[in-house]
Amino acid sequence: MERTYLMVKPDGVQRGLIGEIISRFESKGFTLVGGKFKQISRELAETHYGEHKERPFFGELVDFITSGPVFAMVWEGDNVIKSSRTLVGATNPTEAAPGTIRGDYGVHVGMNIIHGSDSEESAKREIDLFFTSDELITYEKTLKQWI
Ligand code: TYD
Ligand code: MG
Repeated sequence: MERTYLMVKPDGVQRGLIGEIISRFESKGFTLVGGKFKQISRELAETHYGEHKERPFFGELVDFITSGPVFAMVWEGDNVIKSSRTLVGATNPTEAAPGTIRGDYGVHVGMNIIHGSDSEESAKREIDLFFTSDELITYEKTLKQWI
């Protein structure tokens, strides 16, 4: 089953959007297999965003992502990598469609609420960077009677 790495950024955490964001991926039909509240170190931020290290916004990006805790998650489901990018929306919230997370809640490109892996390779790399295998739990939905 395909997995992806999603992370509520410090602005999403501080605006109280963790629950709303989790809810969107649950409602879509994906399954949460790992999650943690985490203060990212500069070293981890620089590794995570390594592909952007020559870009002019790199310093600000690292400052921002380490400015407060994030909520790191791994989600599972068919085509979850591509599908979750669609739910996240375009990088720049001014271009993100209404109905997407960035389109509904974001204002500035530097503070765009959420990160989502963009390919199978980045998903694998980012999941391994933030989670150990024992922190990821795949399970059968066995409870048929809830109350
Ligand atoms: P990128 O990987 O291009 O976007 P995405 O998050 O949609 O995969 O860029 C990583 C982050 O860098 C992006 O979420 C916000 C920040 N960023 C800027 O601050 N300015 C920019 O011009 C760009 C392209 C990105
Ligand atoms: Mg990216």
